[in-house]
Amino acid sequence: MEPIDRRTFLAAGAATAASLGTASPAAAKADKSGAVFLSTWKWGVHANTRAAEVLDGGGSLLDAVEKGINVVEDDPNVMTVGYGGLPNAQGEVELDAGIMDGTTHRAGSICNLHKIKNPISVARLVMERTRHTTLAGEGALQFAIAMGFAPMQLLTPKSLEAWLKWRSTPDRKSFWIDGEHHDTIGMVAADGEGKVVAGCSTSGLAWKIPGRVADSPLVGCGYYADDAAGAASATGDGDVMTNYCTSAFIVQQMARGAHPQEACEECMRMMARSAPDIHTDMYCVIAINPRGEIGAASMNSKQPLQYAHWRGGSGTLETAAAFLG
Ligand code: GLY
Repeated sequence: MEPIDRRTFLAAGAATAASLGTASPAAAKADKSGAVFLSTWKWGVHANTRAAEVLDGGGSLLDAVEKGINVVEDDPNVMTVGYGGLPNAQGEVELDAGIMDGTTHRAGSICNLHKIKNPISVARLVMERTRHTTLAGEGALQFAIAMGFAPMQLLTPKSLEAWLKWRSTPDRKSFWIDGEHHDTIGMVAADGEGKVVAGCSTSGLAWKIPGRVADSPLVGCGYYADDAAGAASATGDGDVMTNYCTSAFIVQQMARGAHPQEACEECMRMMARSAPDIHTDMYCVIAINPRGEIGAASMNSKQPLQYAHWRGGSGTLETAAAFLG
């Protein structure tokens, strides 16, 4: 998919709406065509490949999404997720993640986790081993240690050097009002038998104020899943996207019969309507329904969303439609 201008985007959305306007949640049942994985950014290619391996090997869809996301969390070259993620203003790597099971409508999430490189796995344990949904900070770290995770240094020589460089820049942005580097690994998956899962993991905004939490670990913001409608995930400026509950919004659109692409486009429209200067930063979403139909959209083509798409045993890297051209 190539970036398209707003008029084309709108026309495409209208066409999609016209062709899919009669769909209903009841119609969203599996076609048994196999599993589909959709992940944000180029590192999503490796995440999807691992997820498909796990599912093929007899794992559940939750296992597949968790283990797929682990690949990106473990990669020191992805400097916005997990090990090697850029730290907060004090030089501490602070991780956020969340996962949701569309069948049980249960979610687990972790905020401001230090020293543990796989927050998505800790989030899954919050979902499965506790009656809570979210653990944060020191409590999250103690829970992870109790679950057998080993604390480690998450700064790499590369991320430490980047932080030292930022800190020694006299005119550096204050980050009380601005920021940069806030990508995620977001994954949505359908197993071809009617089940969907969504997950999201990030180190958040580079040089953030310690304690900052944005969309990625928040249910309905960074991820959302419901077998009756579909799953969605968001990436981009989470401080802004949190205010729109993007993932829940998209799943709600699908519950009302929208195709995932139409639902993603409607999310961008909804954001643009309330914020005229929205074109200034990166806002992107992906979605899937239980039939394995997919959607992806970014707010503008200057900061396009690349997403990885796995279907029928092979994967591609594609570019999402851009709302503002
Ligand atoms: N969307 C990731 C973040 O802003 O932390």
